[in-house]
Amino acid sequence: MSAIAFQSVSKVYQTAKGPFQALNNVSLDIEEGEFFGLLGPNGAGKTSLISILAGLARASSGSVKVLGSDVREDYANARRKLGIVPQELVFDPFFNVRESLRIQSGYFGVKNNDAWIDELLESLGLADKATANMRQLSGGMKRRVLVAQALVHKPPIIVLDEPTAGVDVELRQTLWQFVSKLNKQGHTVLLTTHYLEEAEALCNRIAMLRSGHVVALSTMAELLQGSSSNVLQFKTDGMLPADLAAQARITGRIVQLPASSAADVERILGQLRTAGVVVEDLEIRRADLEDVFLQVMARDAVVDHATTQLGAGVAR
Ligand SMILES: Nc1ncnc2c1ncn2[C@@H]1O[C@H](COP(=O)(O)OP(=O)(O)O)[C@@H](O)[C@H]1O
Ligand SMILES: [Mg+2]
Repeated sequence: MSAIAFQSVSKVYQTAKGPFQALNNVSLDIEEGEFFGLLGPNGAGKTSLISILAGLARASSGSVKVLGSDVREDYANARRKLGIVPQELVFDPFFNVRESLRIQSGYFGVKNNDAWIDELLESLGLADKATANMRQLSGGMKRRVLVAQALVHKPPIIVLDEPTAGVDVELRQTLWQFVSKLNKQGHTVLLTTHYLEEAEALCNRIAMLRSGHVVALSTMAELLQGSSSNVLQFKTDGMLPADLAAQARITGRIVQLPASSAADVERILGQLRTAGVVVEDLEIRRADLEDVFLQVMARDAVVDHATTQLGAGVAR
């Protein structure tokens, strides 16, 4: 049985400008025990998909099952199996940290939960904030409480929607240590993020969403191997020829270009020499997840209508 099964999920929002399709036939099976990454640029539909999973929004068509329970027909059971950390910071300002965790336990019908609540507070670096009012906490601390709230009923499936957007390095490390430990203990994790380094380090499998379509679905290893596998990187103050600039990832003086063969490398260096571009610190490295992500996102819109289930590599 899949931990989470999204089956042909579509979502159309009614807006002032008319209907807007945020999700288009999304089908994904996330297996028990996976650390699964859902990636995509802003507006790709990640939060919409998670809201449907959480029962906060309704799919326009399609279905979602959580360990076999349909999120519409069997909401209470589906919801109980999920621990959801929302993208937005939502909290009740009237309670302190421990109280809000006890209330959340009560909501899921879990009694005598103080030992686990203490462990959560400890693991998330919240022990000295247990009696602090939610209003008094910094954004990072509120984020930790949201994580603790999501986990208070020990759900088999943990869903994190951009949990590290705008949070400090310390919280990231605390969070990933803790979530990785839970994953090793058998909890399934579904993570959305646009920190691709984090996704590369943590996830065993990835789906990429673009404009509501799944445009890649693969294990991390296949995704990295299936890409054009090497990147030519150098520093320059010069102006790149237009066709190289179009393929390049440029960060300040650092230029990175896909180069899958020795012939590619020769061609690029030849073009640079002809254009009189002086390069420094030249190196060739293997493609990382960010390179693959940019390649997938840069493909033309035809991909949006391509099949979404892939044996290996990325959609074409
Ligand atoms: N309630 C809503 N009403 C209308 N449009 C929405 C609503 N929620 C999200 N959208 C739109 O749907 C698209 C996907 O949004 P979202 O799921 O939040 O993407 P992501 O989480 O990947 O950034 C965006 O274009 C967004 O503006
Ligand atoms: Mg989002």
